[in-house]
Amino acid sequence: MSVASTISEVLRAGARALEGHSGSPSLDAQLLLGKVLGSNRAALAAHPERPVAAAEAAAFRALLEERRAGVPVAYLTGVREFWTLAVAVSPAVLVPRPETEVLVEAALERLPADVPRAVLDLGTGSGVIALAIASERPRSRITATDVSAGALAVARANAASLGIDRIRWLRGSWFDAVPGERFDWIVSNPPYVAAADPALVALSAEPREALTPGNSGLEAIERIVADAPRHLNAAGGLAIEHGADQGDAVAALFAARGFEAVRGVSDHAGRPRVTLGTISDVQRG
Ligand SMILES: C[S@@+](CC[C@H](N)C(=O)[O-])C[C@H]1O[C@@H](n2cnc3c(N)ncnc32)[C@H](O)[C@@H]1O
Repeated sequence: MSVASTISEVLRAGARALEGHSGSPSLDAQLLLGKVLGSNRAALAAHPERPVAAAEAAAFRALLEERRAGVPVAYLTGVREFWTLAVAVSPAVLVPRPETEVLVEAALERLPADVPRAVLDLGTGSGVIALAIASERPRSRITATDVSAGALAVARANAASLGIDRIRWLRGSWFDAVPGERFDWIVSNPPYVAAADPALVALSAEPREALTPGNSGLEAIERIVADAPRHLNAAGGLAIEHGADQGDAVAALFAARGFEAVRGVSDHAGRPRVTLGTISDVQRG
């Protein structure tokens, strides 16, 4: 990157340095310079002529190097926007993805605002799904679980900084965290990338256990769909995020376990990313 002295010059040079290393070089450069200067993107855009000190430019270049090495922007800034919330993220958690907002939206459509529903978020990571639902449905009773203690620490800290204190955070593998309990809705964005998927290479900065459950990619979803009926109240439902090519397989798993009204929901690019279904009767066992 050449020597540059104003915000607009530094940003241009930063975006050039990220070409070929990021799908959104300009945006990444803005977020990283904003981190260094303690400004948001609007403030950068409002003062393109502001001088950037040598120490600030050096700090920016160091962040660009990490980004070029594959570190997600959110790990470098420590923050990610999700739904209406700004959440803290660290390498202990998956960086929340926009497609997960499809899951939140689908769940909210089925959670009336005026009725207190019991909701379980399995594999909560940074807590984004549970926090988004809690922010929109203050009467819900929400439980969020993860097998990772590091992830739960991030989620709890997010709840504290957002002033959301009604979520119960529990550690354990899937339903082991809630033995004998039942819920009205269970939501989950579990790991679903196949272990041999080459896409994992580009995601190596994120926790592997958040991304892949095993060889086929369906192992965690199979477990959750199989056990969910014994943790649902009558007329309860399950909503799961999955890969764009897993919709048919996940719908078949739902049907095999007695779920009704099984349907898929697509993301904004028209790819099937969420499957939902309900059960009519309480299942024992
Ligand atoms: C794809 S990430 C989703 C994180 C977050 N819900 C989101 O949407 O950004 C999957 C999460 O499942 C957790 N996980 C993996 N295996 C698990 C298990 N056996 N039991 C509970 N959680 C698990 C991971 O630690 C990770 O936080």
